[in-house]
Amino acid sequence: GSDSATQLDRLGFKAVPKSLADKVIVPEGYTAQVIYALGDPLAAGVAPFKNDGTDTQFEQRAGDHHDGMEWFGLDAQGKPSASYNSRGILGVNHEATTDEKLASFFIHANGGTATLPRPAAEIDKELAIHGLSFVEVQTDGKRWAYKTSSPFNRRITTMTPAVIHGPARGSEHLVTKYSPDATACRGTLNNCGTGKTPWGTFVSGEENWFGYFFRDAKDDDARKKDKQVQALKRYGRKAGDASRHGWESGGSDDRFVRWNNSAIGASAKDDYRNEMNTFGYVVEVDAYDTTAPMRKRTGLGRFAHESVAFAKPVAGQPIVAYMGDDARGEYIYKFVSDAKWDPKDARPANRLAAGDKYLDKGTLFAARFKGDGTGQWLELSMNNPQIANSSYFEFKSNADVAIFTRLAADAVGATKMDRPEWNGVHPRTGEVYFTLTNNSARTAATADAPNPRVYTDMKGSKEQKGNVHGHIARLADASPAGLTFKWDIYVFGAEADADKATVNLSSLTDENDMSAPDGLVFSPATGICWIQTDDGAYTDKTNCMMLAAIPGKQGDGTARTIKHGDREVTTYVGKTPTPSTLARFLVGPKDCEITGWCETPDGRAVFINIQHPGEGTKMADVTNPSKYTSQWPANAGYGAGQRPRSATIVITKNDGGVIGS
Ligand code: FEO
Ligand code: CA
Ligand code: CA
Ligand code: CA
Repeated sequence: GSDSATQLDRLGFKAVPKSLADKVIVPEGYTAQVIYALGDPLAAGVAPFKNDGTDTQFEQRAGDHHDGMEWFGLDAQGKPSASYNSRGILGVNHEATTDEKLASFFIHANGGTATLPRPAAEIDKELAIHGLSFVEVQTDGKRWAYKTSSPFNRRITTMTPAVIHGPARGSEHLVTKYSPDATACRGTLNNCGTGKTPWGTFVSGEENWFGYFFRDAKDDDARKKDKQVQALKRYGRKAGDASRHGWESGGSDDRFVRWNNSAIGASAKDDYRNEMNTFGYVVEVDAYDTTAPMRKRTGLGRFAHESVAFAKPVAGQPIVAYMGDDARGEYIYKFVSDAKWDPKDARPANRLAAGDKYLDKGTLFAARFKGDGTGQWLELSMNNPQIANSSYFEFKSNADVAIFTRLAADAVGATKMDRPEWNGVHPRTGEVYFTLTNNSARTAATADAPNPRVYTDMKGSKEQKGNVHGHIARLADASPAGLTFKWDIYVFGAEADADKATVNLSSLTDENDMSAPDGLVFSPATGICWIQTDDGAYTDKTNCMMLAAIPGKQGDGTARTIKHGDREVTTYVGKTPTPSTLARFLVGPKDCEITGWCETPDGRAVFINIQHPGEGTKMADVTNPSKYTSQWPANAGYGAGQRPRSATIVITKNDGGVIGS
């Protein structure tokens, strides 16, 4: 049953050392097995993946850059189960692709076309390797494997129809040629973090969607007063900037034109300019119902979404979801539902109808951190005069707040953070942990209590600046739906040998030093906080990693003052971790990020993702395996060819025990 594992008070494994080897390293007594990689067939009749760039049919294969991931249990009969441990569906984000210039080069035979216009056949592959996949996995008691043919296997791509829900449904800003009444749209894009709702569905955050669209260089002049143009500046996008893949260049077909954010035809019916406004949301999918369309939950706001973590639901209380916007100086958000939790909805007859009930009506808030260790949630709605009467941006409705959320949070004066990535809710304390991955733009002048570190770190000849290694903030809400919180910094990332007064503020050691925390998930089975890194600043000494933590409570540490020239910033640093409360559990292969985390209900199998191994390979070397910076997972015995592939691995303990115990 789901309660068979206990909440752990200390970690039971020996920390693994930092590593630059091209392999997955786990502690003594554990095994890691590759089970599901880029290109793996998801339907009968789809050819095995050759991994030489000639493969096609990506709409029926695993996508690329496996990222956030959630577990949806099945019982022996294939019915939804919250307690069976041998069979389930993994919901997987396929965030992006390994690319250089415009081309996702590992999936094209000779690396593809890095100039415009790009061939339609290459674009079609790239459209299909983004999005989501749902894949059935099972174990025979010895080994886990995915099923190439399962009724639950499903791909969702950048072209899959979706339904718009929440306050932005019907907005003038979402009117497209595809949906003149602004109720539907197509595709999900750059899906980064995930979450699992209390009613048992998959939610996924659309992160860097804005880079995939092209706008004509004259667009800003022609549309000076257009809200969309004003709002796009908040994403650092200028008209004339190249799109990431040049998808707009591939032909005259509608599926190409839609990536051209300046495309307008003879009439309003040919207007593609709002296509971009249909991305940047949290999407919800029912993993058990492969025919129900995904829903864009606009009530959760539009920004560079990472994960969604739900507070433990309480009968008669609202549902609360926490979210981060991952860009330098962006904000932390929470959503509070209008509907009150009915425990019967833990197993609803219609899961997406439960999603409608809890996510379509509610209030979004942005966080303001104060220097005294307290904070406030600032309401983002037309009820707030700072939004209704804003001279900064004209908000006409809560639909505008849902679409132009970053500007709403600007208008109320939320606190600019060091890149909020994933967050997780501690199963026992209810406290919320946010990774703040790093911020090269943080300066001595802008350092503040929740983002207090600024220093310079040399990596060979490369100078790193700002908050180089990131930190993890911890919020204790006064009540789940409350308007105030207390906060401190659970841990600061740092190299063990860095200065303890200015950089290594948490006194990390060789057992637990890390940089750029990104993925963060609490295990429901053990209470372990799993921390995953995406690190450009420590990769001279180690590949990216996953650590296990048993954190204490907000406020368990001390106040610390850091000097920046003539400025002093006081912050609050949690109790110093020890190797039995924070330890490195896994190190990945070369040039990867470690991300995605889920487990079987008994905590005896943990699934994670190895994203973009070999990312540093040059496109010119695509047919020269000896030049690949990684050959994983081929060098771990998985699959054909030598091109590196993003993949899901499963970790088990050789004695059958609980992971981390
Ligand atoms: Fe997709 Fe912010 O990581
Ligand atoms: Ca991330
Ligand atoms: Ca990251
Ligand atoms: Ca990445």
